[in-house]
Amino acid sequence: MARTDLDALTLNALTLEQKASLLSGRDFWTTKPLDEAGIPSITLCDGPHGVRREAGGSDHLGLNESIPATCFPPAAAVGSSWDPEVAARIGAAVGREGRALGVAVVLGPGVNIKRSPLCGRNFEYYSEDPLLSGVLAAAHVAALQAEGPGASVKHFAANNQETDRMRVSADVDERTLREIYFPAFERVVTQARPATVMCSYNRVNGVHASQNRWLLTDVLRREWGFNGVVVSDWGAVQDRVAALAAGLDLEMPGTGGASDRRIVDAVRAGDLDEAVVNASVRRVVALTERHSGVSGAFDADAHHALARELAAECAVLLKNEDGTLPLSAEARIAVIGEFAARPRFQGGGSSHINATRVDAALDAIRALAPDVAYAQGFSLDGSGDARELREAAAEAAASADVAVVFAGLGEREESEGFDRDTIDLPAVQVELIRAVAAAARRTVVVLSNGGVVSLEGWHDDVDAVLEGWLLGQAGGSAVADLLFGVVNPSGRLAESIPMRLKDTPSYLNFPGEAGHVRYGEGVMVGYRYYETVELPVRYPFGHGLSYTTFAVEGLTVTRTGDDRAAVTVRVTNTGDRAGKHVVQVYVSTAAGPVRRPARELRAFTKVSLAPGESRTVTLRLDRRAFAYYDVQLGRWVVAPGDYTIQIGENASSVVAETTIGLGGDSVVPVVSLDSTLGEWLSHPLAGPALLRVLTGGKSKRPEEDDENGLRMASSMPMGRFLTFAGIDIPHATLRELVALGGSDGAAA
Ligand code: BGC
Repeated sequence: MARTDLDALTLNALTLEQKASLLSGRDFWTTKPLDEAGIPSITLCDGPHGVRREAGGSDHLGLNESIPATCFPPAAAVGSSWDPEVAARIGAAVGREGRALGVAVVLGPGVNIKRSPLCGRNFEYYSEDPLLSGVLAAAHVAALQAEGPGASVKHFAANNQETDRMRVSADVDERTLREIYFPAFERVVTQARPATVMCSYNRVNGVHASQNRWLLTDVLRREWGFNGVVVSDWGAVQDRVAALAAGLDLEMPGTGGASDRRIVDAVRAGDLDEAVVNASVRRVVALTERHSGVSGAFDADAHHALARELAAECAVLLKNEDGTLPLSAEARIAVIGEFAARPRFQGGGSSHINATRVDAALDAIRALAPDVAYAQGFSLDGSGDARELREAAAEAAASADVAVVFAGLGEREESEGFDRDTIDLPAVQVELIRAVAAAARRTVVVLSNGGVVSLEGWHDDVDAVLEGWLLGQAGGSAVADLLFGVVNPSGRLAESIPMRLKDTPSYLNFPGEAGHVRYGEGVMVGYRYYETVELPVRYPFGHGLSYTTFAVEGLTVTRTGDDRAAVTVRVTNTGDRAGKHVVQVYVSTAAGPVRRPARELRAFTKVSLAPGESRTVTLRLDRRAFAYYDVQLGRWVVAPGDYTIQIGENASSVVAETTIGLGGDSVVPVVSLDSTLGEWLSHPLAGPALLRVLTGGKSKRPEEDDENGLRMASSMPMGRFLTFAGIDIPHATLRELVALGGSDGAAA
């Protein structure tokens, strides 16, 4: 029987060599066993939207065939479900399959923020918003781990591009890290307790994530209380000893013993404390408790049906003029585009699943409607004559009641490992859509793409657009269910669709140069930027249509204690079909000394309603919903002031709002001789005292003339102001003033 309780085992019985051996892989996917100590080898393998358990050769690029498993919708689709239940059901199913395939840790989910639509791996990430990403990922992790295997939330941190991903330094200010790039990790770590966290390849502000002590130990372990294993991304370790000292426990894949020798040598040379090795060994051994061998089985048919059901929750109905959708089963339908027959349903790279089976939308549509013609429209591999294919498609469209064009990005256009340089659809597809739209009575476009594609150049020519993202192996059937109204669309965009690539906030700073990518847009990522600068987008974050209609009324906001609130609204399905509505709560404020985005998503919930049904929902806003991260104080601060709670139809359309005042934290800045005169004067203790000294004993405000002079000088650091103005304050008085200014008197 495997022995994994290291306290009983007494660490001292292990040699340094044995301990070091536990801290890197045996091979690509497994850890080293220590049979004499009863420590088993465990298997880690990719997820996150399915299990990629390789049977033969190993690689982390998804090149080798793996054992068949269910390919559920990838995160780009799950993000659009806005439903933690969807994420949880996928997590649980992947957990079951992992267990059945003998996997101890299923790598994922990826919670990196979609900073730019160009990131080649956006299909594997949930959203441009940290709350949405974090809530979905935490649900996935908790449900997966409840089935036995552990998860590995990744890639920590600031891994938001593929270009130069193993070297680039993401240069990000701390407030932006804390408010945008960390919260999804923080939520997963604190709420779902993942077995492992995977560090990213890149550097963060110059230091490799794999050897970044601030990241892996100070923030992750000390602040968030993470007590699982930090595992390297595959091949992310640059300096094994520095990485171990920084908090990286397990290096993957193995390095044939080289890293183990380095650890042993460093301890022997006195360069590495053996206590650091012991701490990591304890954590890795605890992880081997996840080892259960192969247990249970999974029901491939049931999981395929689940993949179909969940995929239908994810697609977003972007446009639907004159009730073009749902389609009538009696209509003459022209299905156009090779994706209808050969679906694109997952992304390329390490998450690539060997699906148990794949549904094509064309077959699923034929199963629902008798009169369906098909035209290829374009070829994915560039073969054939584009004009002929287009003309044949337009002909088919002309003799149908409605044309449904399946367009999107092929595997060549986007994948892990590289970024795109355009958000345009391939030109051949744009020409096809326009030709079909010109010939057809009605045109519907169904999109399959991992990263955002531009709708410009054809959007206005078509009647309806269904954004399917990548929907997993049953996506074809799910799309048919949505097109015919078997299921009512309920997805909402988890990322903005811009008008132009040039409009995107990271445009000037992506993917960086000379080894650095500067996150110059700061916290203004995605809708935070578009809403703040009032830049129109094609479709905003949070947008999504339904075949029914909803009314949201009766907004009330109640304070529920210090700097907390409860938001209540009543949602009614005012149409004649069952449907789901996403209540989106944003907070808008200008309070505090930092620039705030126009609004930020702070709570959401998806409500399922029968026709005519109403439901009252209450969402809680905690302190963090109002706070900004104060880098000088090194903590979250709620600034006193007004906060407008907004119910958004999406990020740019507010349907109801109400403003509350919050007392906030009484933060008194600590002032020193380096603080400006203005900062001194606004200090409650030091300010009046200084004024008394400057005005020769009077503590009243100076006369108007003096006041203008003071205002002019207010940005001068105190020390220089005194010299400049020739003011000679005795040393003892100065010391007293500095002492007064040094007491911040801040309420916690
Ligand atoms: C990817 C990870 C993946 C690992 C193992 C890396 O290249 O960045 O996301 O889990 O390979 O395949």
